[in-house]
Amino acid sequence: MKKIFSYWSIPIATMFGFYLGFASPTASAGDIKKIFKDTCELCHAADGKGSEAGKQFGVPDFSSADYQKSRTDAQMKESMTNGTKNPNYVKLSDLGVDLADLDALVKVVRGFSK
Ligand code: HEC
Repeated sequence: MKKIFSYWSIPIATMFGFYLGFASPTASAGDIKKIFKDTCELCHAADGKGSEAGKQFGVPDFSSADYQKSRTDAQMKESMTNGTKNPNYVKLSDLGVDLADLDALVKVVRGFSK
């Protein structure tokens, strides 16, 4: 019995490795989550409601349906690209964010409101 088990465990482990290997190149949704975690949570918090520091800066509550309705995707991207009237809000390129990721980041922000 023991011998059969170890015989099969090798191909099964290999298949698993291939599965993970194939899955990772398309994991850009995970990369965006990582960008949010590394760059945005400082002010916007993991739940999108705003960290203590972020609230003092005046972040909106991303989990609020009313807030979400008050902004179009284009307005959000405009704010993220150029900053806003709020002097505490820096444009995201100054945080090292690639502007090509803005659409995906808007989706993350939209995702906080269910
Ligand atoms: C240093 C704090 C800080 C960091 C870091 C930060 N934000 Fe913000 N963010 C703010 C503040 C403050 C506002 C509110 C701006 C305003 O109301 O004018 C805001 C507003 C926003 C808005 C709403 C803009 C609008 O028009 O309503 C979006 C979207 C946003 N941030 C996305 C992000 C993303 C994505 C990241 C990470 C890549 C990020 N922010 C990182 C402070 C921050």
